[in-house]
Amino acid sequence: MAVDDMTKLFKHELGDLLFAEKTFLKGLKAMAKETSDPTIKQRILQHADETEGHIETLGRAFEAAGLKAKATKCDAALGLKEEHDSFKEEEDPTPEMLEAFNLGSGLRVEHYEIAGYRSAIVLANTLGFEESASLLAQNLAQEEAMAKFLESNAAGALSKIQTVEQESEMEAAVEPEVSSRSKGKGKSSSRASSEARA
Ligand SMILES: [Fe+2]
Ligand SMILES: [Fe+2]
Repeated sequence: MAVDDMTKLFKHELGDLLFAEKTFLKGLKAMAKETSDPTIKQRILQHADETEGHIETLGRAFEAAGLKAKATKCDAALGLKEEHDSFKEEEDPTPEMLEAFNLGSGLRVEHYEIAGYRSAIVLANTLGFEESASLLAQNLAQEEAMAKFLESNAAGALSKIQTVEQESEMEAAVEPEVSSRSKGKGKSSSRASSEARA
C-alpha cells in the first residue's frame, strides 16, 4: 500500500509504535532478569505491565481513527534490541557491567518511544483525530515518567554497581596473595635466609 496521504502515514506511525511496544515488552522482561537493584527491577517490571497497556491503548487509538490495528516492522526498535543483544554476546560483560549498560540502553528505548508518540500526536491532531491523540498522550506520559525514573536513578545505581565491582576486584587481588603465602611458607623463609646470607 502506497502511503500517499496523511491518514495512511498516521496508520504507518501507529503500526510502527505497535511493533516497537511489542519488541520492547520482551526487552523489558529480559532487562528485569539482568537487574539486581531491587528498586530498578521493580520499576522495570511495572513498566512492562504498563507496556502491555500501551499495546492495548494503541489498538484503541487505531479504532478511534477508524483504522484497523496492524503492526508495521520497526527497524529502529529491532536495532535498539540488537544493540543490547550484540553487546551481551560480543563484549562478554560481567553481570554488573551488563546491568550498568542496560540503564543507558533502557533510556534510549524510552526516548525513542517519546519521539514516536510526540510525532504521532501532532499527526493525530492535524488530522482531527482528537480521541486518538488523547489515547496516545496517555502512553506518552508513562514513557516520560519511565525516562525520568531512569535518569534520576542511574547515578545511584551506577555507584552501587561500582562498589560491587571494586569489592570483587579487591577480593580477587587479596586471594592469590593469601594462597601463595599459605602455600609458600618454606619459600619465604628460604628467601629470608638467602637475604640474611647476602
Ligand atoms: Fe511503551
Ligand atoms: Fe517505555
